[in-house]
This record gives sequence, structure tokens and C-alpha cells, in this order.
Amino acid sequence: MPWNLNTTHAAIGDLALLVGLRHKHFIFPLLPGGTFHTHRGILSHDELIGKPWGSQVFSHQGSPFFLLQPALADILNDLKRSTQIMYPKDIGYILTRLSVGPGQTVLEAGTGSGSMAVALAYAVGPQGRVVTYEKREEFQKLARKNLERLGLGGRVEFRLRDIIEGFDVTDADAFFLDVSNPWDYIAPVRAALKPGGFFASLLPTFNQVALLLHALRRENFAFIEVCELMLRFYKPEPTRLRPTDRMVAHTGYLIFGRRIEAGGDERSRDLLEEAAGVSAIEDLE
Ligand SMILES: C[S@@+](CC[C@H](N)C(=O)[O-])C[C@H]1O[C@@H](n2cnc3c(N)ncnc32)[C@H](O)[C@@H]1O
Repeated sequence: MPWNLNTTHAAIGDLALLVGLRHKHFIFPLLPGGTFHTHRGILSHDELIGKPWGSQVFSHQGSPFFLLQPALADILNDLKRSTQIMYPKDIGYILTRLSVGPGQTVLEAGTGSGSMAVALAYAVGPQGRVVTYEKREEFQKLARKNLERLGLGGRVEFRLRDIIEGFDVTDADAFFLDVSNPWDYIAPVRAALKPGGFFASLLPTFNQVALLLHALRRENFAFIEVCELMLRFYKPEPTRLRPTDRMVAHTGYLIFGRRIEAGGDERSRDLLEEAAGVSAIEDLE
């Protein structure tokens, strides 16, 4: 597998991360006879192959670099993109909230550049399945390339279609809906999820969140959570520890929910009010 976190030494075909001065970093596959050109000189792949991960290596000009296995966050930050992508900050929480794990079936729309698809494919493992929908061929092509470069393409089924046509999967464990008008697709998303299945979406504005909340209530999703994650980096200097000067102030609001099977039983009125909100009670009346 090209992206291989389970070894101690760099091997032919592995995806390597080189980190030079001022955090300059490069991710590329190690090929016999290959060379890698940086503005601080050239490195021969043959000299990198066989080195323990974490080694210091030097360009032909003597500039130092560290040779490492790229982390999932490095891969996602470095991803070639033609769309807005999902970032590690939000992906990390989404994966735990959706409880994505080995062997699961997870759906996503739209595929975009494939950032979330990479993270989902990594989390479901070799026995799992990610089905991702995209209406624009050029984006799907790029996403496919991004997944294949990592050796994760085999875990992902790419569907080229407008999701207005619905989904061809049922009983999915989780659904990540990443389009600008998710409220229009909540009924088919519900049909694709297994009972109790997990739902998440990311939206950049309040206005969109409000529309999505109405649709989730209407379609019997409960345990709705809306949140926003702030990530602040610090300069890791023990004697003058302080935040870095700049931060990304906003990516999007995260919206979570679960498919519930709300019956019309009067006895569940209070619980429904708590779990699903007012409209579920109105549905009983
Ligand atoms: C923000 S991007 C998705 C980013 C992606 N999740 C990632 O992590 O890289 C939104 C994508 O949804 C696609 N899209 C929007 N509406 C769609 C629809 N109705 N059917 C299928 N794809 C759609 C767009 O073409 C775009 O590629």
C-alpha cells in the first residue's frame, strides 16, 4: 500500500513526507532511481529508501530534511483540490460523532476533491465500504486520483450522479452530506440510512443551518446537535508559550442527527419532545 503507516523503514513505493526548514514539506512516492527537486537542492530516492522513518536526510546542497510517514492530517492538508474541502479540524470530530469504524458502510455526497472520502476510507478499513456521490465528472476524477494515490481507491465506490435522483444504497451506517442545499435531500438520506443511523453535514452559514434543521425535524431525525469547532495553534516555545499570530476563524457549522423510528404512541410524547424537538410532538397531534 503506497501510504503505509505500519513500517519502521522507508520502502519502495511508500508515500514519504519530507520536512525542511521553515516547515516546508513535500509528500511524494519513493521510486527506484527517482529524484526529488526542492528549492534547497535535489534528493535521490535511492538514498531515502531503506532509511528509518524519522531520519535526517540532506539534499545535494547539504540542506537538511526529516523523512517521515505522512499523517492523515498531512495528507488532507496537502490534497490536490478544485473544490472547498473538509479539513482535519472538523473531520476528526465528525468521525467520532458518526462513529465510523472498521467494516462499516458510509455514504457521502458530494465527493468534491475527496478529502472526506480519504478520511472515511481510512476509518472503515479494508473490510469497509464508502459510497460517494458527485455530479461533476472533473471533481470525481480528481477525487479518484487522490484516493488511488494513497492506495485507498479499493474501499471507495464513486457514483457520478445528481443526488436529486436519490441513492442506490440502503442500511448505511452513516451519511455525511456536504452540499450547499442539504435540506432538499433529507428524505432520500433517511431512506439510505439504517434505522438509528448517523447523519452529519457541514454548512458555512446560519441561514443554511436553519433550513437544514427544519428538514431534519420533518423527516424524523432526532438527537440533533449543532456546533462549531475552534482550533487555536500555539508557538511551542516553553519559555514564551503563546498563540500563533493568525488563525482560521471559520470553516463551517456542524450538524448531527440520527434516524429515529418515531411511532404515534402518546406515551413517547415527552421523550420525543426532548430528543427530536417541537415538530415531533406536533406530528402526534
Ligand atoms: C464542498 S464540496 C464537497 C467537498 C468534499 N466533501 C471534500 O471533503 O473534499 C461540494 C460538492 O458537492 C457537489 N454537489 C453539489 N450538489 C450536488 C448534487 N445535487 N449531486 C451531487 N453532487 C453535488 C459539488 O459538485 C461539489 O463537488
